[in-house]
Amino acid sequence: MTKASIVVKFDDLRTISQESEQFGVTSEERMAVEPGRVTGPPEGPRYSFGSAEQAAERLRAVGYLPDDRTSTVVHLADRLGKPVLVEGPAGTGKTQLAKSVALARSARLIRLQCYEGLDESRALFEWDYRRQLLHLEAARGTAVVAELESELFDESFLLTRPLLAAIRAQDDVVLLVDEVDRLDVETEALLLEVLSEYQVSIPELGTLTATRIPTVYLTSNNSRELSEALKRRCLFLPLGYPSPEREQEIIASQVPELNQALAASLTALVHSLRRMDLRKPPSVAETLDWARSLLVLGADALTPEVIAETLPVLLKHEADMEVAGRTLLGSA
Ligand SMILES: Nc1ncnc2c1ncn2[C@@H]1O[C@H](COP(=O)(O)OP(=O)(O)O)[C@@H](O)[C@H]1O
Ligand SMILES: [Mg+2]
Repeated sequence: MTKASIVVKFDDLRTISQESEQFGVTSEERMAVEPGRVTGPPEGPRYSFGSAEQAAERLRAVGYLPDDRTSTVVHLADRLGKPVLVEGPAGTGKTQLAKSVALARSARLIRLQCYEGLDESRALFEWDYRRQLLHLEAARGTAVVAELESELFDESFLLTRPLLAAIRAQDDVVLLVDEVDRLDVETEALLLEVLSEYQVSIPELGTLTATRIPTVYLTSNNSRELSEALKRRCLFLPLGYPSPEREQEIIASQVPELNQALAASLTALVHSLRRMDLRKPPSVAETLDWARSLLVLGADALTPEVIAETLPVLLKHEADMEVAGRTLLGSA
């Protein structure tokens, strides 16, 4: 088994919270040391993002336009070494935030896409039975049983799934646990265990401990309440629809060919749609799709005809199209 190591943390924010003391520095400065040995703080820059402003600047540099709350939470998560739970409606930039944090700090992204029925063998680890069987076949008649057993349950026969991969990573990683609200309660409990201890117990191997604590972003569409314990572990970032100004900025950065006046009327219209009683109000993703569609169609103004033709890009339910058609165009 790989020798377990512990992580020593240094953080001048110790007073902020007990938990900040537990996971206080970014992975660049974390050092795996032998148990019981305490070393001084490492040299060099201590954090990935020196301030909320720097976090904002670096996210912008990779194409993500955060609001002030987002950049503050990104900065604090970095400082406190805590996971971030990003919660909000679909298409508001939750997944993209985690990807952008990874990009902004040149870290590797490890993604766990959650779904109902996702279990330990897909989330954490699984023994590679086929290779174990091959090994067994090859050793038939030649090996001592006890030796064979220890060979078969070696880490090299382990299929590492995202949670374990993040724990075992030697490099700087961002673990994205996407759509965590789709997990079954049991797998959520498993996730909580991993995020609390940053270690994984494998009966045949022992305990595998993180040598570097990964940066963790969890996203939730709020389809169900997550456990209080999981929420307590995390910094909470509710992410709603952006302000019209920010949304216009997002269009300008991702669809720069679209003229500004059209982008302004487009965002105004999207915002009025969000105030209607719709099953699925358009998100930033749909705004961007709409902006691209207008470019493809060569539209230079939002005439009633253009709106009527392109509503399917924005709305995903027939009933919503009827409501929007009636309100915007006076027709169904
Ligand atoms: N603040 C933002 N800056 C840049 N792009 C954004 C922002 N918010 C949303 N987007 C864009 O919106 C789209 C949907 O984002 P995504 O992260 O997939 O949504 P979610 O995970 O919340 O469902 C992506 O194309 C993303 O680039
Ligand atoms: Mg998403």
